[in-house]
Amino acid sequence: MREITVRVNGRLSRRTIKDNELLLDFLRDRLEVRSVKAACWRGECGLCTVKLDSHLVKSCLVLAVEADGKEVKTVEGISPEGELSPIQKAFVSHGAAQCGFCTPAWVLATHELLQEKPHPTQADLVEATSGLVCRCGTYNQIREAVAEVSGTTARPRHMKESLARA
Ligand code: FES
Ligand code: FES
Repeated sequence: MREITVRVNGRLSRRTIKDNELLLDFLRDRLEVRSVKAACWRGECGLCTVKLDSHLVKSCLVLAVEADGKEVKTVEGISPEGELSPIQKAFVSHGAAQCGFCTPAWVLATHELLQEKPHPTQADLVEATSGLVCRCGTYNQIREAVAEVSGTTARPRHMKESLARA
């Protein structure tokens, strides 16, 4: 057991954890950040994606102790005042959230991409979201949502095909 201190969405949390505790379990079970989802627990679905300092990571592949002294951002952190961010609004207007299970991870990844590259190319989008899966198949809608926020008008192409080629 050991004590760690992690800043999650701007809020400092100090907890005693097991040495082998996953960051995923730390966020969901101890801090009740339930937007962080899980389906595979082995790095394949991407639903547990969070930002750890400056990088997106799959929190099922990271030990909580590795986040000690660091900053974690989840989808809640992109709209701290409770108002939907532009990419969240675009997800709604383009129907990019179907069952919604994967949506927090996709919103976080695309939001961070747009922060870094306000006008991303298709290749940028594929790279930034590689490893993220949507079982409802909303890849085109997600692409359209990103295109709307970035002000590009590229014709939708099936993103899953692009992901397969990447
Ligand atoms: S639960 Fe982490 S990648 Fe699937
Ligand atoms: S919206 Fe259902 S899994 Fe993506």
